[in-house]
Amino acid sequence: MTDVFGVIGFPIKHSLSPVMHNAALKRLNYDGIYVPFEVKPEELETAVSGMKSLNIKGINVTIPHKEKIIEFFNPEKEVQEIGAANTVDLKSGKCYNTDVYGILEAINAAEIEVNGLKVLIVGAGGAAKASIYALRDTSRVYITNRTETKGRAVAGKFGAEFVPLHALERHKFDLIVNATPLGMKGFQSAMPVPLSLIKKALAVFDMVYNPPSTPLVSAGRKFGCRIVSGIDMLVYQGARAFEIFTGQKAPVDVMKKAVISEIENIG
Ligand SMILES: NC(=O)c1ccc[n+]([C@@H]2O[C@H](COP(=O)([O-])OP(=O)(O)OC[C@H]3O[C@@H](n4cnc5c(N)ncnc54)[C@H](OP(=O)(O)O)[C@@H]3O)[C@@H](O)[C@H]2O)c1
Repeated sequence: MTDVFGVIGFPIKHSLSPVMHNAALKRLNYDGIYVPFEVKPEELETAVSGMKSLNIKGINVTIPHKEKIIEFFNPEKEVQEIGAANTVDLKSGKCYNTDVYGILEAINAAEIEVNGLKVLIVGAGGAAKASIYALRDTSRVYITNRTETKGRAVAGKFGAEFVPLHALERHKFDLIVNATPLGMKGFQSAMPVPLSLIKKALAVFDMVYNPPSTPLVSAGRKFGCRIVSGIDMLVYQGARAFEIFTGQKAPVDVMKKAVISEIENIG
């Protein structure tokens, strides 16, 4: 019987996951299909029982369900710490946060050795928390955030140091990570940090992947920084989810090609 996988979120129509996972299933000749499901916040619990009854095998989870979904499944260690999951294996009942893997693999793909680096993470939401979790054992992690109280709370909880936006220019960071929507298509096209900081950095990492060349990425290129790709993060978090779902090695190149071509198509 064909295995059914999917992604739940609200809204869901712009998700690149279906294109990415269906390309991977096709490449492996895996008898499966990956479908987007729009689930309103108040319908999450009903959707979870529906998934179980319908024998859906695996689900990715996006905004606004990443926190609430944990209540229905067994969280892996990183999910317990971060407080958010993006992947559910319905066969085992476990939920995972594969963004952590996506972040580390994307940095690895840019040939950056994170040991001992001074890293600045901009943002204090789910993606920022996953970044601190991924990097705090190897790097010196700092965060900054528009809402200072929230930034300080996240820094305190996760063992990072908080730097207010107005004090950033006194520092020099090796790697600057944008974990806010600044630069995203249809959002504010702004730089998340002052240009002087990018000038001093070794590398920049923009989690925003559409457009592929954000203001942060363009400035990083201009100043000769290494670029960690948000597309790579998306692809690697998807690849890890694919492996959890199917037990097979993900065809990463096929998934990346599908994502890039979809971004070019949707413009
Ligand atoms: N490449 C990937 O695979 C991948 C994976 C996950 C997320 N992402 C991207 O990462 C970004 C953050 O995702 P998330 O899930 O962490 O979101 P989130 O939980 O909603 O957090 C958003 C963060 O961005 C800040 N922010 C929002 N609007 C801002 C603005 N106009 N100026 C300055 N800061 C602003 C918020 O600051 P306040 O606290 O002040 O509100 C908050 O810290 C999104 O753009 C998402 O698409 C990419």
